[in-house]
Amino acid sequence: MCGIVAYIGKKQAYPILINGLKRLEYRGYDSAGIAIQNGTLNVYKCKGKVNDLIKHAQSKNLEGTIGMGHTRWATHGKPDDINAHPHQSGNGRLVIIHNGIIENYAVLKETLIKAGHTFTSQTDTEVLIHLIEELQSQGNLPVEEAVRAALAKVVGAYAIVVMDREDPNKLVAARKASPLVLGIGQDEFHIASDATPLVEHTNNVVYLNDGEIAVVTRDGEMQIKTIDNKVQTPFIQELDLKIEEMEKGGYEHFMLKEIYEQPKTIAECMRGRLNAGEGWIRVGGLATCMERISNADRLIIAACGTSWHAGLVAEYLFEELARIPVEVEYASELRYRNPIIGKKDVVIAISQSGETADTLSALELAKDKGALLYGIVNSVGSSIARITDAGSYIHVGPEIGVASTKAFTGQVTLLSMMAIHLGYRKGTIPKTYYQTLVEEMENIPNKVAKILESSKKIEYIASEIKDANNALFLGRGYNFPIALEGALKLKEISYIHAEGYPAAEMKHGPIALIDENMPVIVIATNKSAYEKIVSNIQEVKARKGVVIAIVTEGESVISKIADYTIEIPDTEEPLTPLLSVIPLQILSYHVALMRGCNVDQPRNLAKSVTVE
Ligand code: M6R
Repeated sequence: MCGIVAYIGKKQAYPILINGLKRLEYRGYDSAGIAIQNGTLNVYKCKGKVNDLIKHAQSKNLEGTIGMGHTRWATHGKPDDINAHPHQSGNGRLVIIHNGIIENYAVLKETLIKAGHTFTSQTDTEVLIHLIEELQSQGNLPVEEAVRAALAKVVGAYAIVVMDREDPNKLVAARKASPLVLGIGQDEFHIASDATPLVEHTNNVVYLNDGEIAVVTRDGEMQIKTIDNKVQTPFIQELDLKIEEMEKGGYEHFMLKEIYEQPKTIAECMRGRLNAGEGWIRVGGLATCMERISNADRLIIAACGTSWHAGLVAEYLFEELARIPVEVEYASELRYRNPIIGKKDVVIAISQSGETADTLSALELAKDKGALLYGIVNSVGSSIARITDAGSYIHVGPEIGVASTKAFTGQVTLLSMMAIHLGYRKGTIPKTYYQTLVEEMENIPNKVAKILESSKKIEYIASEIKDANNALFLGRGYNFPIALEGALKLKEISYIHAEGYPAAEMKHGPIALIDENMPVIVIATNKSAYEKIVSNIQEVKARKGVVIAIVTEGESVISKIADYTIEIPDTEEPLTPLLSVIPLQILSYHVALMRGCNVDQPRNLAKSVTVE
């Protein structure tokens, strides 16, 4: 949420900043701006995307070897030119970019107004830069000390970069609950919200910790201190990211590329963790906490959005295969309802970005209550990966499309392996079934590839439902979370109102909505409760609903009743979600495209939600 990029070195900053902003645009695209110093401090910003900024900045003075850039996801103040970042202090000397929310901004603003400050924007960020200015001029402080003094007065979350016109050889960066990474190059430093803009400049990075302030200078100095002024030794890590992973690679959209990558990313997630030839699954992250998880009173899964849906699939998996009770919580609700969490509970956080503020807060609460924290994360080195006691990366590579696809199948792959591994260790699944599941997991990438081959038919179905105003997604058992995920995918990128329901719940309310204009997508691959699903479909047809059924290859009953059927390969029931979600991703993609929506950057959304 909001992309931050900054540069200090010997090269011209503008192309580096613009390129960095393009890489970060998935974090927010309400407005974009840059500030560059070259004797004067020039700030250019406007509503819209990075391309709008490029047009706006054309033929302006873009000279300078120090600067910062920002792409915004609006929190305080509507998306317009004035609220766009960077924001300047009243005296024009200081400039800031910010990701996060300053919660006590209203009180601070009042005090600053009394002290004679005037504000032009509606943002909390402008308040912060005025506060830094006030403290700098009161104490005649260097910029880093003014930043430190100001942050001591701030309540909220922030990742910031500050630049001082009177001190043009220095950038100051700080973080609390919003990510920030420093890239160490040859005679230069880069700063960014995540590593994606850094990879083309350097592989050496330092992830700032909460409560740290970094100062980087043109002569190659880097100093990190805590907000209470204790010097920290920076931990330099090597990045494991490739530029190709962040490009579209010939696809029209990142989402499409990421959908098509899934045979590879699922295999990548299983690499070194599953060997069908030798008949084993081992999830390394579990090794250090196997006993604690096996004997846990409960597994509490905390996540948001698509990751929460992966958590729901895990509830079925862990309860059926490993007989461990599971509760799946929206992280935002868990955090604020005084939950009962004890030392014998294990809290599993699932997050693609590893930076989701709600999930992080839930983990902090669970940590205070003594639970073991396990993270299932994609972004290496992210905050959730670092706060948890143990965990596993899903290794699906950067996911850039705002709609999560390959991260979901990566999460479900990992969770399936965990449940099978635990079930076998606990003796809750027999060896023969264990081996069947291991073998079947290895077949999943090929089966996903086979579904992708049927995308033409799905594209045709998309053309038939693209004008609908509403859609219903139904599924039972393992396919219920997939119904929710299908509905989320459709609504977030095509803006069609969509609901996911357990198929049997339909008769308790949603059935009232069904008429000839309502597409009802039924995920009907279940072996258990098959007849019940058939009845549910009959109930929809009796009310003239348009049924799109996802069935197992060779199925012959539903195919005759449904208006459209999409066949997917057969698999063991606990592994069905890994296949049944794929047609829904493709369907949403095509519907959104046919409706002229921006598939990769849907309105009002951002990839990484770092505000609560
Ligand atoms: O990075 P996370 O997995 O923690 O993100 C959670 C949600 O914000 C995310 O899944 C969101 O719902 C996606 N846009 C869904 O496609």
